[in-house]
Amino acid sequence: MNAASAATGIAPATQPGPPLWLLAELTYRCPLHCVFCYNPVDFARTSTELSTGDWLRVLREARAAGSVQCGFSGGEPMLRDDLEELVAEAHRLGFYTNLLTSGVGLTEARASALKQAGLDHIQLSFQDSTRELNDFLSHTKTFDLKRRTAGIIKSHGWPMVLNCVIHRLNIDYIEQIIELAVELGAEYLELANSQYYSWAEINRDGLLPSREQLERAERVTNDYREKLGDKIRIFFVVPDYYETRPKKCMNGWGNVFLTITPDGTALPCHTAKMLKGITFPNVRDMSVQDIWYASPGFNHFRGDSWMKDPCRNCPEKEKDLGGCRCQAFMLTGDAANADPVCDKSPFHPVVQDAVAYAQVPDARRTVVKPLVFRDPKVSRQLAEA
Ligand code: FES
Repeated sequence: MNAASAATGIAPATQPGPPLWLLAELTYRCPLHCVFCYNPVDFARTSTELSTGDWLRVLREARAAGSVQCGFSGGEPMLRDDLEELVAEAHRLGFYTNLLTSGVGLTEARASALKQAGLDHIQLSFQDSTRELNDFLSHTKTFDLKRRTAGIIKSHGWPMVLNCVIHRLNIDYIEQIIELAVELGAEYLELANSQYYSWAEINRDGLLPSREQLERAERVTNDYREKLGDKIRIFFVVPDYYETRPKKCMNGWGNVFLTITPDGTALPCHTAKMLKGITFPNVRDMSVQDIWYASPGFNHFRGDSWMKDPCRNCPEKEKDLGGCRCQAFMLTGDAANADPVCDKSPFHPVVQDAVAYAQVPDARRTVVKPLVFRDPKVSRQLAEA
């Protein structure tokens, strides 16, 4: 037995590797109100955020447990005024550090401080290439600020990833979004089609693009890839709903990713807290090492003994591990079911129905649900409902 096995009693054959990727969700506070936000719908229930001291301990414990990459996200992580201190400690410990930000609060002074702290990499989110749609989708006037922030990031020499969540409302402007990324000097562009979790799930009817929209966007992206060559790397993430096999979510449950939420709850993915019947540990009560190797929450969907049919006897089960537990829960009520994205799932028609509705042009829709913007008041109402 290795040291971790000895500590946990888990046999070496089933012992997972270390939590290579640590996502530190420092806060759920955010000045933006995005309609596709992946923070939990009931985020406003989160009471106390971890203190600076708690986060410093989490960083040390995670690094000792084998984490090598640390993403600081939120909400908006710039709202934590101890961010520089946390980045400095992560850097000192030897992490590769990322900041995932909307750009709000990333002033010249804070950028200099973060540079000095050793921050390696920044991902800046945009909602669209135009001020109108960017500001509408985030319900804030942030477009000009984001452009200025992109300039600050470049002037400090960071490699810049622009991230734009793609959906029915902005997918037809894909060329303008790519042009904007080129103009701002981004090294990478993530055209991340919205996946339907949290706030995006509430707004799914208004956000899921049609097949025609999606195919056109992919074509345009490929044309730009050819035209731009090495100038910028463009990632295009297809929405799960248009696939017939599910993704190997988080590269396997409790396999690589460790998310720590603002109140210290440790999760194998950022939405797992919604799963009923699973208790997740908190870094206030348990070390990262014990959380990762010994907690029931992290062991719940490791291996394949939890699988039901059709996954249990599926020849492809090693490839996708049955897909996403959160998506299975949201769409079937049971997280141990196959992800209904899979066309072998008896629940696949749920996904097909959503896709069929996405083909109905907006003008021909009889019921148009208004978009729900992420907001603390709405979050409290939804949590109570
Ligand atoms: Fe939770 Fe896929 S997002 S397992």
